[in-house]
Amino acid sequence: MNAKELCEGSRANYANFITWVALDRSNLSAGRQLSVNYFIVAVILFFAQLLFGMIAATQFIFPNFLYDWLDFSVNRMVHINAMIVWMLYGFIGCVYWLLEEESGTDIVGLKLGKLAFWVLTGAVTIVVLVYLLIQTGAGKDSSLWLINEGREYIEAPRWADIGIVIVMLIFFYNVVATFSKGKWSGIAGVLTLDLVALAGLYVAGMFYMTNITHEQFWWWWVIHLWVEATWEVLVGVIMAWSLMKLLGVRRQIVTTWLYIEVALMFGSGILGLGHHYFWIGTPEYWLTIGGFFSALEPIPLVAMVVHAMYDAGSHSFKNSNHPAVAWIIAQAFGNFFGAGVWGFMHTLPQINMFTHGTQWSASHGHLAFFGAYATINIAFFYLAIQHWRGDVWMNSDTANAWRWKWALGLLNAGVVGMTVALLIAGYEQSFIERAVEGSTWGGYFSAQNHPSFQSAMVWRWFFGLMTFSGLILLIWDLLTIGKGETRKAQEIVEH
Ligand code: HEM
Ligand code: HEM
Ligand SMILES: [Fe+2]
Repeated sequence: MNAKELCEGSRANYANFITWVALDRSNLSAGRQLSVNYFIVAVILFFAQLLFGMIAATQFIFPNFLYDWLDFSVNRMVHINAMIVWMLYGFIGCVYWLLEEESGTDIVGLKLGKLAFWVLTGAVTIVVLVYLLIQTGAGKDSSLWLINEGREYIEAPRWADIGIVIVMLIFFYNVVATFSKGKWSGIAGVLTLDLVALAGLYVAGMFYMTNITHEQFWWWWVIHLWVEATWEVLVGVIMAWSLMKLLGVRRQIVTTWLYIEVALMFGSGILGLGHHYFWIGTPEYWLTIGGFFSALEPIPLVAMVVHAMYDAGSHSFKNSNHPAVAWIIAQAFGNFFGAGVWGFMHTLPQINMFTHGTQWSASHGHLAFFGAYATINIAFFYLAIQHWRGDVWMNSDTANAWRWKWALGLLNAGVVGMTVALLIAGYEQSFIERAVEGSTWGGYFSAQNHPSFQSAMVWRWFFGLMTFSGLILLIWDLLTIGKGETRKAQEIVEH
């Protein structure tokens, strides 16, 4: 084959690839085209999250892997920052998606919204490149502004922080102005108030303080009050809206559930913050407050399971989009087990004294973030893709249905496997490092070198790979599902 043929061949392949993935955007309103942009970046970052997770997990087993090239601390940081950012992109996408339909009008300030998307995406790219290019060096005022703020999960430097706040203000303007022009609803009200709290809390992670206790005190306002209060409420909103669309549940029912969940969530989640104030130098009364209120936190999560299962059950599981509803059910259980059960297990100070900061936390962190937030985003991707393809049939007998079923199975089994492996490591650390050896430096190393810790790290790698293959299959499925489908989506009757 000469160079010309090769060139033409690859051009034809490229064209085939484009038609293969190409989706006709003409089915989408302007607001929804913007939301699709957010979804695409979300999926790319999800991929990056797992790629860096795999590298970090490999370094646990072979500490010399990529030594001097990619520091473990940087891999870990990219892994968890990519997670936070892709989930936020997913949520923003969901809100833009439901905004026009819920308000009954076209989106207000679309141009500004589009500009914000590109600014944010450009900033995220620069932040990640800087993380990778400047991995070590002195921590100074300038590094705080330009490289890394050093707050776990939200390490982005200060310039990016300020940019993020501006972009969020634009997003917030789009939401409020659109609802104000069209109509407000219970869902719209809860969503708007929640966005004020969610964006406002981010600012608590931006101050600079020299006292580490103060620093941690405010940092937890972002992390805990996001995942155990404001993000949960946002998921409640997205779930409520999706249940109406996918199952035909009456608005009155989902809105009532939403109010109950929000009340319970804020009632337990806000003071539940105290479970992070046990050992950081804050007053002792936090032991009681944190232990008590955080122990109540699983209650709203039970309400969410009942809500989703009751609605699906009362419609005999008849729905217009099987993959989306399967992921919604995975969310109800994942949220309950990952956050509720796994969180509860180590939330009482008597237990947390032994488990604090061990792999026990990582076990809970993986199941909770995946169960509560990855799942609902994936459900929404399926909801969006169905409409994008022109409201086509998307049931369990859809063409190549094995892909969405296997992706669902591999991702969930992979994360559950990692969770169990990490829990075993966490048990061993709590027992040997904390209980037997009394939290000494030597105790730390005995625990790290114990065979049950080391084999758990190998199992985590294995299940990580399973999770990663599930994601690759999911991406393939999202790009192809419903393509060439001529049947229309299953009708759902509202009752
Ligand atoms: C979807 C909701 C939740 C998510 C995403 C989540 C995630 C996490 C993560 C990632 C950590 C580790 C933080 C770090 O890096 O130090 C953590 C810590 C913790 N979580 Fe959760 N969590 C959730 C809900 C809950 C609930 C409902 C409870 C209690 C019932 C709980 C109890 C705890 C406790 C006690 C810690 C501290 C662990 C330690 O001492 O090391 N979490 N959570
Ligand atoms: C390919 C699969 C994955 C692998 C191999 C992996 C690996 C890792 C590793 C090695 C760490 C560092 C743990 C440490 O410092 O001891 C970590 C942390 C973390 N990962 Fe993953 N991960 C994967 C998937 C996920 C998923 C799907 C989520 C959630 C959606 C997630 C959320 C987290 C969180 C929240 C932390 C911080 C935990 C803590 O500080 O307690 N990871 N992961
Ligand atoms: Fe918390």
